Amino acid sequence: MTDPTRDFLIAPSILSADFARLGAEVDDVLASGADIVHFDVMDNHYVPNLTIGPMVCEALRKHGVSAPIDAHLMVKPVDRLIGDFIDAGASYITFHPEASDHIDRSLQLIRDAGCQAGLVFNPATPLSFLDYVMDKVDMILLMSVNPGFGGQSFLPGTLDKLREARRRIDASGRSIRLEIDGGVKVDNIAEIARAGADTFVAGSAVFKARNEADPHRYDSVIRDFRDQLARI
Ligand code: DX5
Ligand code: ZN
Repeated sequence: MTDPTRDFLIAPSILSADFARLGAEVDDVLASGADIVHFDVMDNHYVPNLTIGPMVCEALRKHGVSAPIDAHLMVKPVDRLIGDFIDAGASYITFHPEASDHIDRSLQLIRDAGCQAGLVFNPATPLSFLDYVMDKVDMILLMSVNPGFGGQSFLPGTLDKLREARRRIDASGRSIRLEIDGGVKVDNIAEIARAGADTFVAGSAVFKARNEADPHRYDSVIRDFRDQLARI
């Protein structure tokens, strides 16, 4: 049973932000009502794209960002970068099970440092990777696109997978966030929430929707997300 009282968190992906003015973009999106900063780390090896690393995470902290930073590691191997992101001030650190030879150890590394740990599931990755680690995850992230790029379309098969992940979380009795990443828009967020997600990554939908009246704000799209979520 989905808990109707769970809180919904909006996590803009800075992959679609203007990297030339990243600190200001993060300030603007948080001032517009976002809850979490989703930080996509790509290594041109595990995924076919190259983005930003721990130095940028640390720079955002030094800039004054105090909101949770959700480091989504699309890198292989993962363990050394886990340490770097802990030092850089990440709040959540999630990684793909295929990218770690020792999933239990990688999760433990994150948790031992006091960060929130999560596993990320590509569209074709089975949830059975959770079987023996439900007590070690704080977040389950389902990819609703193949990782590597922003601006792709939501894969509808993810809805059933969300329902299955929600069943597993409810059966565990644990407090584990269920995050969705890829192709989240105003017109599908309600359906995604009904399938069980409680944390919503949105890159292009947010950063392509600057307020017309105030180019430093994204609050109209964030308000639209919350209006949709209020109706489920
Ligand atoms: C894709 C990234 C996503 C991406 C989402 O590999 O993990 O976080 O930025 O972008 P949109 O919301 O545009 O699909
Ligand atoms: Zn991501």
